[in-house]
Amino acid sequence: MSLITQTPEWKALEQHARVMRERHLRELFAADPKRFESLSRCELNLLFDFSRQRVTTETIQLLIALAEACDLRARIDAMFNGEKINSTEGRAVLHTALRNRSDRPVFVDGKDVMPEVKATLEKMRNFVEGVHSGRIHGHTGKTFTDVVNIGIGGSDLGIVMATEALANYRNRNIRLHCVSNIDGVQLADTLEKIDPARTLFVVCSKTFTTLETMTNARIARQWVVDRLGDGAPARHFAAVSTNSAAMDAFLIPPQNRFTMWDWVGGRYSVWSAVGLSVALAIGMDQFELMLQGGYEMDEHFRTAPFHKNLPVLMGLLGVWNRNFLGMDSLAVLPYDQRLHRFPAYLQQLEMESNGKGVTLEGTPVEYDTCGVIWGEPGSNAQHSFFQLLHQGTARVALDFLAPVNGSSPYQEQQNLALANCFAQAQAFAFGQDTDEVRADLVEKGLDEAEVARLTPHKLHPGNRPSTVILFPRLGPKTLGRLIALYEHKVLVQSVIWGINAFDQWGVELGKKLASSLAPALENPGSADVDVTLSGLLGFVAKWRS
Ligand code: F6P
Repeated sequence: MSLITQTPEWKALEQHARVMRERHLRELFAADPKRFESLSRCELNLLFDFSRQRVTTETIQLLIALAEACDLRARIDAMFNGEKINSTEGRAVLHTALRNRSDRPVFVDGKDVMPEVKATLEKMRNFVEGVHSGRIHGHTGKTFTDVVNIGIGGSDLGIVMATEALANYRNRNIRLHCVSNIDGVQLADTLEKIDPARTLFVVCSKTFTTLETMTNARIARQWVVDRLGDGAPARHFAAVSTNSAAMDAFLIPPQNRFTMWDWVGGRYSVWSAVGLSVALAIGMDQFELMLQGGYEMDEHFRTAPFHKNLPVLMGLLGVWNRNFLGMDSLAVLPYDQRLHRFPAYLQQLEMESNGKGVTLEGTPVEYDTCGVIWGEPGSNAQHSFFQLLHQGTARVALDFLAPVNGSSPYQEQQNLALANCFAQAQAFAFGQDTDEVRADLVEKGLDEAEVARLTPHKLHPGNRPSTVILFPRLGPKTLGRLIALYEHKVLVQSVIWGINAFDQWGVELGKKLASSLAPALENPGSADVDVTLSGLLGFVAKWRS
């Protein structure tokens, strides 16, 4: 795989890219006004319009040939079949089993995992319905009105993103708060707002060792003990983890524990019991609809031919932009405020997965892998960083996401959001050339000197590649489909790049150093630390005294 750049398929793409880099989207649309017909797909009620990507049908054919040369189909099957494709951790990668709504068994080491998956979903349903009905209540007998999810990374981002996205479906009797950061601010702010007698804490951590989560959980537990007594945490704490010994040590009673498995990566885990807080916020029926949406995308990904396969096309377009057109980053721009945390969710999903510099064989890659993923909801983004996207020097590809029917009661506002979304996609693609800018300025009555002076500043070069993903409405099934779409895109790209999308060794060094430095921050004057840090620690000591 490390020799992917030497394959005829890669070389054919390089040659094709030399031609395509010189072509403007204006020209491509002029040559083929029916690009929408050939360069868009509608599957599972997701319209995927990539006619504004800098591609032709030939590009797609060449990219599919590359995918075939990389044995993509076999790698997809290997994931679904529970092979240990996370080779550096010796683990299967089976988030798809969590949303498998069929009767198909899924084997890991010869054992069907589906009975355990279904049992956990059943246990979640029982718990969620118990909390909602008041059958499960606090230490003093009061029903729960607030749930505080304590977790970070994959044990937080999916929960925040999904509950924000599905706020229209939330149970009005439950308020969800999410605490992730180590600095104590979120925890303190949350504790100020809640009544201990009516609050359920969900400690969510695959490992149950993560410093941030365990610190927040320990402090929250003490807060509950201080207000409700020693016996209270047993009723006020639930936990989700693979680590039962650590849940024992935290005194989580068996009925409040939810298991997950080492074949679920943290950033792929919102489908597991990690989604307990989502289910508490929106109800188990809605949560299962999200699983259904994910499952439908899985079936599509597993079975659709590559030229119709949304995650495959999306992954390949990303490779084209990154490796052949030299795009530095991808901006994700949802035109629905409910999706405001979707870009943040994708940051972990994509960058923790494919932010890798060595191949599966451990040799340094000779090409770019994942670029920077970022974004904000439009139209806020338009009034902030779109200037750079339109006229700056950074090379950024764009994903627009938009529901046709808005998430607010004010459809006329969503119509304006859509108008903005489509207008931006057009402006990024076609820009405004010298003649158009000049004509505009002349019409405004400016004299020739002023026209000449302002024209370069007002030019919009265009040719910025984008995809528009349009869907009827944002609901649990659609969200499930969207999340699974991006998850599978990540797999596709990892296969082309020959890297492991499912480990994350790059986060370990910082964690190790932070643990060893914690005592020094407790007592900056006395600790024996690396000389390269003594300057910083000197200021900590000075400004603390
Ligand atoms: O810091 C990276 C990471 O390991 C993520 O991959 C993970 O989602 C997060 O920390 C939280 O881990 P845990 O769920 O084990 O607390």
